[in-house]
Amino acid sequence: MTTHTSGQFSGKIAVITGAAGTIGLAVAEHLASLGADIALLDLQKDKLEDAATKVRQYGSTVRPYVCDVTDAQCVNSTTEQVVSDFGKIDFLFNNAGFQGAFAPIQDYPEEDFNRVIQINVCGAFHVLQAVARQMVAQKSGAIVNTASMAGVQGPPNMAAYGASKFAIVGLTQTASKDLAPHNIRVNAISPAFMGPGPMWDMQVEKQAKAKTQYFSTDPETVAKQMIGSVPMRRYGNISEIPGVVSFLLSDAASYMTGVNLPIAGGIL
Ligand SMILES: NC(=O)c1ccc[n+]([C@@H]2O[C@H](COP(=O)([O-])OP(=O)(O)OC[C@H]3O[C@@H](n4cnc5c(N)ncnc54)[C@H](O)[C@@H]3O)[C@@H](O)[C@H]2O)c1
Repeated sequence: MTTHTSGQFSGKIAVITGAAGTIGLAVAEHLASLGADIALLDLQKDKLEDAATKVRQYGSTVRPYVCDVTDAQCVNSTTEQVVSDFGKIDFLFNNAGFQGAFAPIQDYPEEDFNRVIQINVCGAFHVLQAVARQMVAQKSGAIVNTASMAGVQGPPNMAAYGASKFAIVGLTQTASKDLAPHNIRVNAISPAFMGPGPMWDMQVEKQAKAKTQYFSTDPETVAKQMIGSVPMRRYGNISEIPGVVSFLLSDAASYMTGVNLPIAGGIL
């Protein structure tokens, strides 16, 4: 593995939430490979330690912080700790998220609805606000929120997730306007149908079990139906996400803010 001591993002400090998860870790490794130092935030302590070990291999300074994004106080104190440890925050990848149950709206469990909104919307807001306050004080920063194509077209059986990701697109647009005067850009990414792996399998199985007219009850057929709805006729690989995030964080995107970029094989 190559270590980078003077890359494109050398001297930059990035905060990543959901950093122990698949996309968060992939982005952390990529930003570290470009020279950024990284604060990794996640709920899951053990997975977070493993992620930190992996990201350190790129030669960057990496610190793990156990933080529940639904707890505003925890987010605020963790952000203060990150600034105390690293001195500033240049980049935020606001990415922690949860899919919740798959069921038609008339059967959708209220508990799941509330949980998904708490994590995906309130959590993203807490992190965005805490980090934005620091960036406003610094008069610079770049933020990428993880939305989803479920926040562009409401998918069947995903009332909570769809609503939460539409909210992320709205939050991105409003934050981009509120923070533009402070030299802070805010954009979003919208992945869809990323695989292979547990997330892909889980989505396929849950849609099959939801038993609606939109998908077969046979998971193998569901997988074919999903891929058939993608113009590029394949699912996306997780490795196709980090480069888009680093582009949006970089000066190459210096005139882009409030944008939601699909990473979705042609689904618009
Ligand atoms: N994987 C996909 O196909 C896909 C597609 C579109 C959007 N997304 C979005 O990408 C983001 C990352 O998802 P992923 O696929 O890496 O999933 P993942 O489950 O691998 O990672 C999510 C991470 O978020 C963390 N997390 C959950 N609740 C938290 C909380 N309250 N506080 C702090 N951390 C918390 C989890 O511990 C986990 O490590 C999510 O916002 C998800 O909605 C994923």
